[in-house]
Amino acid sequence: ISAQLSDGPLQGKRILVTSGPTHEPIDPVRYIANRSSGAQGAAMARALRDLGAEVVFITGPATVRPPEGVQVVAVETAQQMSEAVEAALPVAAGVFAAAVSDWRVLNASDRKLKKSKDGLPVMEFAENPDILKRVSRMATGRPPLVVGFAAETNDVVEHATAKRLRKGCDWIVANDVSPATGIMGGSENAVVLISEEGAETWPRMGKDDVARQLAERMAVALAQ
Ligand code: CTP
Ligand code: CA
Repeated sequence: ISAQLSDGPLQGKRILVTSGPTHEPIDPVRYIANRSSGAQGAAMARALRDLGAEVVFITGPATVRPPEGVQVVAVETAQQMSEAVEAALPVAAGVFAAAVSDWRVLNASDRKLKKSKDGLPVMEFAENPDILKRVSRMATGRPPLVVGFAAETNDVVEHATAKRLRKGCDWIVANDVSPATGIMGGSENAVVLISEEGAETWPRMGKDDVARQLAERMAVALAQ
């Protein structure tokens, strides 16, 4: 059983976590989504809560349930997630574990598309706001610690290092999700923590253990 520590190292710190996929509507009954279960984000929220943090958990329509003892903000689209993140500021740290849809349907219909009358749908796309990048690059009120995630299938360290610089975040938690690793959909993860100091390869371990170790690292960084 896990409970919020009354004197944990993150006591009094407000931390936001984004999690899960986003759904981007095509019409009132259809949407574009991705395979994120929200497991990594939920594990992060739980681990941060267990160290005493006040967690704002901003989640898309995930398949795993949000942890107890966190403030849950349920959203559907990337735009809603972006607004919820802005409303949650200021925070001591932001953990961006959501699998945000890169695009939304620009010409979404406000009525259900009918196959007979409407023919084949033609979708136009617009790029969604990059939430992690926006927060990382805030001129004022930037959270002192901003952590992003990156699932890659090849050249993990190279891609994730470039991603960290492009986004402007402090850390990127990268993992190799190529089929040979068997990580996708499993309960274990093998991550590389990318920071200003370089790339640190962690041994393969349970996803909850990854979350606990990251939360502990965050507590150390925020204490400095
Ligand atoms: N992210 C975000 N908002 C977006 C897209 C991504 O906040 N619109 C965050 C994710 O939550 C994650 C990090 O950015 O923490 C990296 O996501 P990823 O999809 O790997 O990065 P992209 O810049 O979208 O690059 P790619 O083309 O590889 O998808
Ligand atoms: Ca993306």
